[in-house]
Amino acid sequence: MAFTPEFLDEIRARLPVSEVVGRRVQLKKKGREWAGLSPFNKEKSPSFFVNDAKGFYHCFSSGKHGDIFRFLMETEGVSFPEAVERLAGQAGLEVPKSAPQEQERAERKRTLVDVMDMAAKYFEAALAGRAGQAARAYLDKRGLTEATRTEFRLGFAPGDRNGLKAHLLAQNIPIEALMETGLVIHGEDIGEPFDRFRDRIMFPIQDARGRIIAFGGRAMQADAQAKYLNSPETPLFHKGHVLFNHHRARTAAHQAGNAISVEGYMDVIALAQAGIGNAVAGLGTALTEGQMELLWRMGPEPVLCFDGDKAGQRAAHRAVDTALPHLKPGRSLRFAFLPDGQDPDDLVKAAGRDAMENVIAQARPLVDVLWERELDAGPTDTPERRAALERRIKDLVKLIQDETVRRHYMTAMAEKFQMFAPQPVNAPVPFQRRPWNNGERRPKAGLREAIRPSAGLRQAAGAGRIKVREAALLVALIRHPRLIERHAETLSEIELTSPDLARLRGAAIDAAAHGEGDSQELMEAAIARAGLSASLARAEAALTPGLWWAAPAADDLDAETGFLHSLALHQKAHALNKELRAAEAALGQDLSEENFSRLADIQHQLRTVEGTESTIEGFGAASGRPARSF
Ligand code: UTP
Ligand code: MN
Repeated sequence: MAFTPEFLDEIRARLPVSEVVGRRVQLKKKGREWAGLSPFNKEKSPSFFVNDAKGFYHCFSSGKHGDIFRFLMETEGVSFPEAVERLAGQAGLEVPKSAPQEQERAERKRTLVDVMDMAAKYFEAALAGRAGQAARAYLDKRGLTEATRTEFRLGFAPGDRNGLKAHLLAQNIPIEALMETGLVIHGEDIGEPFDRFRDRIMFPIQDARGRIIAFGGRAMQADAQAKYLNSPETPLFHKGHVLFNHHRARTAAHQAGNAISVEGYMDVIALAQAGIGNAVAGLGTALTEGQMELLWRMGPEPVLCFDGDKAGQRAAHRAVDTALPHLKPGRSLRFAFLPDGQDPDDLVKAAGRDAMENVIAQARPLVDVLWERELDAGPTDTPERRAALERRIKDLVKLIQDETVRRHYMTAMAEKFQMFAPQPVNAPVPFQRRPWNNGERRPKAGLREAIRPSAGLRQAAGAGRIKVREAALLVALIRHPRLIERHAETLSEIELTSPDLARLRGAAIDAAAHGEGDSQELMEAAIARAGLSASLARAEAALTPGLWWAAPAADDLDAETGFLHSLALHQKAHALNKELRAAEAALGQDLSEENFSRLADIQHQLRTVEGTESTIEGFGAASGRPARSF
């Protein structure tokens, strides 16, 4: 809906910012402005200011700034039109309707909403009354408190075929309205319309603003025909665009950062009762694109919870397929799987809120769920089977519409394919796994993570931390200072990412220039005088066992060989990283077979280079190492 600037100004004129903000933030007059504690950040001294004359607020702790509409959007997670509607109401203004038909439709909806609300009151009263005894006992058994029942407006539809119908007709509601809202079942072959919901616990389904637009009714007997019966599609209720508990979860998600989606009404309610307010549920079918859009409006990475069983996994996989085309930079899904046979309701009852929080905290990214689904789809023990896997993955990634996300998916997938690359001999643990899948059961996710290359290449090379190879190059020369003179120039040109190592290098070269490169002792004393003993210790601690040649005990000759070898790898890795960036860019331009292979090839070379230190073998006799035999 479009609002005219005049209309928005009229609302602003009637509602001072301090009044709107003041409902949520305690404000104190400070000169011409008002001040209070930021509603966006926890703080002790006020850095949040409201200026009525200028019509805005400004928050110095979060940098947020805006007018009354923005404030509602920021603090309550509502959309702009909704903020306008609400504030217009508070200002005593009617929201102008664009056209007469629209106005008529809106009025019609309003009356239908009123009918639904009357129905809800009828069900609530029935639950509280004599007819509701068994229903109350059932809810007791399910552990729902009075407060929860009231909050969710739970009710009971008595067994009678005409209870609700008679009640509403008596209040002058036309039978057509009952038909249109789906509260009665009617049709050509049905003589008299009759109540749709009979002998069921009633769960009102509310729209984003809390208005009741449908019901779900749960049978109490385990052997009932359908456990849940829902309202049909009506002018009010378009199932694919509705989430159960949306209007409450919205506010909670705003605070939590994201929404959680679970499978059942009872799950949502049990979670809310346990203090997890940001849960919603679809309405008995797989999540639709429309529902995902609603989830994304509540936060960029909603967590979808599924049962840990096969059915739950299938449902998760369907959600992956629905989401793929709609991924955006920063916008994705995460997947949490519950312990076998439990739903969130069971879990919070058995193990409490923390157990559920824990499950949510362990949610896995979409990319991993997708990869594992395809990997688990069949054996990958021959080149043809691995090629088929590659083909499937590529076809799936092509479904992603956003170019940037698609490119990053390609890169991530190419990296995952590295598990099939030949493994360097005697490589450190993460590279040792022979992942040929012969169709046998794969280990559980947690274990799988542990034995898989854990970090991406970039992460492995993360700046700031000491890099093992750089440490080795430096330690080798400091511990074998006679080599410094011979390699001083090379040493000064090595790219060091850690400032700590760079300082050490400076001190070592300086010391060697002053004749202190004649022995380990002299060099060590010089390093100590420069105040860098701790840095040297840290560098030494970073060395892995394969880097024995850098250690003080190694022979000078071996140290030199190791140094030169390692230096070559260092330079190679540097060049490869450059190539990697170019290959990624090329793949982004063109998702061709060649570009994919090229990227995969560079990633493989990089991994080999990264994992090769420990494979430098076949020397070391000078240090008394036994020659390695195969
Ligand atoms: P569940 O069977 O998991 O229901 O179905 P639940 O919410 O955990 O309910 P309890 O714990 O058995 O009482 C999940 C959702 O699927 C839809 C409902 O929306 C339900 O909440 N559903 C299920 C139906 O629409 N019809 C059915 O017959 C069953
Ligand atoms: Mn359940």
